[in-house]
Amino acid sequence: MKVTVVTAFPDFLDSFARTSIVGRAVEKGLIDVEVVNLRDFAQGNYRQIDDYSFGGKGGMTLMPEVLERALHFVRGEGTKVLFPTPVGAVLTQDLVEALAREEHLAIFCGHYEGLDERFVEKYVDLEYSIGDYVLTGGEIPAMTLIDALSRLVPGVVGKELSVADDSFYNGMLDTPHFTRPAVWQGMEVPAELTSGDDAQIEKWRRRAAASRTLSRRPDLLGRANVMDYLEDEAYL
Ligand code: ADE
Repeated sequence: MKVTVVTAFPDFLDSFARTSIVGRAVEKGLIDVEVVNLRDFAQGNYRQIDDYSFGGKGGMTLMPEVLERALHFVRGEGTKVLFPTPVGAVLTQDLVEALAREEHLAIFCGHYEGLDERFVEKYVDLEYSIGDYVLTGGEIPAMTLIDALSRLVPGVVGKELSVADDSFYNGMLDTPHFTRPAVWQGMEVPAELTSGDDAQIEKWRRRAAASRTLSRRPDLLGRANVMDYLEDEAYL
């Protein structure tokens, strides 16, 4: 899949797209991340990309004609246009999974007050928020989405099984993880995990995920059948 990020701050994205797991996925050609400088589409001596918001208190808004020129440059046949904004739909694993099925996403990063609403109305397919707090721009939400998407592309995360076990994959939080030594400062790894018995391990994992989800994020449980996981009522 391909993700294009249109931003006035391309440096922000460049190092991200070259680093760690996402960087390796880009290098291997598993995901294509294109960073486009919005300023390349500005016109006039000042190469202006934004202006004061009408009726605002001095904040700046990205201009629709600059955004439209950038859009015409990046848009292909099946491009879905995304705008990260705190007023958008909250980004969940389900939404990430739906977006991972798209061929090409173009993310338009707002800065200052955001994008002119007429551009949003005319061209944006999805406004998304990464949480109920306000950032200075859309670059971090763009990186957040790309990072989450890249993990779903086959071959990006070493062991595909580990993705299937992660939090939210089946509507549950992930289990705790342990490594060697089996006893550290008097604290023992749960016996099931060191038993070598696959059925016992699986049972422990399902219970641990269910009880953790129940105590920390009961709001998630509507999506998963918690009784399947707990297998008895001791935790309820
Ligand atoms: N831009 C500023 N804050 C944001 C948020 N919480 N989510 C997505 N985009 C944003």
